[in-house]
Amino acid sequence: MSSLSICVTRTTTPRLTDALRDTSPFGGVFTDHVLVCDYADGHWGTPAIVPYHDMPLVPGPLVAHYGQGIFEGLKAYPRANTGAVVFRPDANHRRMVQSCRRMAMPEVPADLFIDGIRALVAVDRQWMPAILGGTLYLRPVMFATGDALGVRPSDRYRFLIEMCPVGAYFSGAVDLVAEETYVRAFPGGTGAAKCAGNYAGSLVAQREAQARGFHNVLWLDGIERRWVEEAGLMNIAFVIGGTVVTPALNGTILPGVTRDSVLTLLRDMGVPVDERRISIDEVFEAHAAGTLEGAAGLGTAATVAPIGRLRHRDREISLPALAADSPIARAAQQLDAVRTGTAPDVHGWLCEV
Ligand SMILES: Cc1ncc(COP(=O)(O)O)c(C=O)c1O
Repeated sequence: MSSLSICVTRTTTPRLTDALRDTSPFGGVFTDHVLVCDYADGHWGTPAIVPYHDMPLVPGPLVAHYGQGIFEGLKAYPRANTGAVVFRPDANHRRMVQSCRRMAMPEVPADLFIDGIRALVAVDRQWMPAILGGTLYLRPVMFATGDALGVRPSDRYRFLIEMCPVGAYFSGAVDLVAEETYVRAFPGGTGAAKCAGNYAGSLVAQREAQARGFHNVLWLDGIERRWVEEAGLMNIAFVIGGTVVTPALNGTILPGVTRDSVLTLLRDMGVPVDERRISIDEVFEAHAAGTLEGAAGLGTAATVAPIGRLRHRDREISLPALAADSPIARAAQQLDAVRTGTAPDVHGWLCEV
């Protein structure tokens, strides 16, 4: 099934149980195998699928010093008779290559990424939750393993793919507070890369937002603190007067695969989509004028998470719930239908395992 040569060593002590598979919290348990591939001397080695195990590291791998660490997140969906499909692994691969370039890391080859995912899902397919809406969440990761202290790109890296069974993600409304102290990204920075440091830098903001009774922060731009960028760990879209408005990808926003998929389906449905700058003031003004029909976070985990409360400084609004026939909700339903195989995959997004 794969043009790539992958050495597979199966575990002799499988941990799979129905309870682990069907009831573990998101990211709480990994499947029995991981794919590992090391880069050294200017080229990638032979990938191997091996039992999930602790891995030795030099005491101070370069990722710990200078932060060359990137990752991806995507899902495999069940198909009848123990089959599975992976959603848009090519898009996640393209984004990982962009992250590699930004972080001065060697590029992960497409066959290693895509065929590696397909092979790993095939080996651990029995970990697919047997519950409605269950999926396998795939986490490709790459980090610098070089053993040195000089500030320079590492000469050694590890690429691995691990996987978790996850249940259906029913998101209630997400409450956000516009962040005023910290910034996630700024022009010329790493905001468009899925690098570990972006997440490390955002944890304190998330923690402080949660202490204030919100789920996460609404990230504003790093210069004027005025333009809406992202909803915590998701992209964001507003429905204003029948048009879906979402911040344009400007180098400081992570180009989400869900965002791209939802916008594509909206355009297919003939819904006007406006990718442009949108200020926090415009959001509050649209709410006051009665034209704000709702907003949603867009990301792999939830697909579409409706935004509930939104706070900026001393003003706060409760956004209207997204109606089932609102454009974003309809696009989300269509996306689920494609993933579950009840609607045709006209864009060629599904990759058979
Ligand atoms: C900062 C950030 N923005 C947006 C997204 C949504 O991206 P995707 O739709 O590819 O999951 C993510 C998801 O991981 C994220 O971490």
